[in-house]
Amino acid sequence: MTRKILIAGNWKMNGLLEDGVNLAKEVAAEVKKLGRPQCEFLVCPPFTLLYSVKKALRGAKVALGAQDAHFAVKGAHTGDISPAMLKDLGCSYVILGHSERRADHNESNELVAKKAVAAYENGLKTIICIGETEKQRDEGKTIDVCSKQILGSVPANADASNTVIAYEPVWAIGTGKTPTAKDVEEVHAAVRAVLAKKLGKSVANKMRILYGGSVKPANAKEFLSLPDVDGALIGGASLKAQDFMAIAKSVC
Ligand code: 13P
Repeated sequence: MTRKILIAGNWKMNGLLEDGVNLAKEVAAEVKKLGRPQCEFLVCPPFTLLYSVKKALRGAKVALGAQDAHFAVKGAHTGDISPAMLKDLGCSYVILGHSERRADHNESNELVAKKAVAAYENGLKTIICIGETEKQRDEGKTIDVCSKQILGSVPANADASNTVIAYEPVWAIGTGKTPTAKDVEEVHAAVRAVLAKKLGKSVANKMRILYGGSVKPANAKEFLSLPDVDGALIGGASLKAQDFMAIAKSVC
């Protein structure tokens, strides 16, 4: 089964106009130098930068994604952004259910699933995030927590063409701490087994599962060469084009 590696940058709430455009231009130039890369590239800037980053990426094989979307197409939802708006702006992906949104905005599995359905209806692919807290890991509940998140957040009509899963242990995000390669492989294999139960074996075998949480140039190869790891969702290191590309080059 060949699953194309996805190298995705989640810029989170970082970047003013000039920084964002410069970063996008640097990434675009580096990806162009790769010619026909083996990997798929994606950057997910904050909403405020999407339009300018889209322009800066012109002609480069780098997809554009957002970090969240509402489940409604339009209407009275002050401050929210709909999947239709993101599609209109040139996005092809949206990250849903990131642990920071689950924590900061109380997002439940049910809400994440509802958003995912709306994203599909508007032609967006989703990156659905899951991952355990440090306490849950210490209590030995990692697989259980991740399984429940998959079962609750991934819609029944998810398939490999509209959905990517990102396993991001909450305690590894932005901390410099990472699970061992063995731990990551174990969780990814378990996630694929749950996906197989929910969506069928054929869909599960094609669906990409990314690892995220303190991915850096120095540890990228170790994670990205694991059999069930199909790419990375990169936070901090995606804000420096050189680091982002060094991570990519470890496998692409
Ligand atoms: P860091 O790479 O900064 O740990 O963030 C990971 C993440 O949350 C990506 O979505």
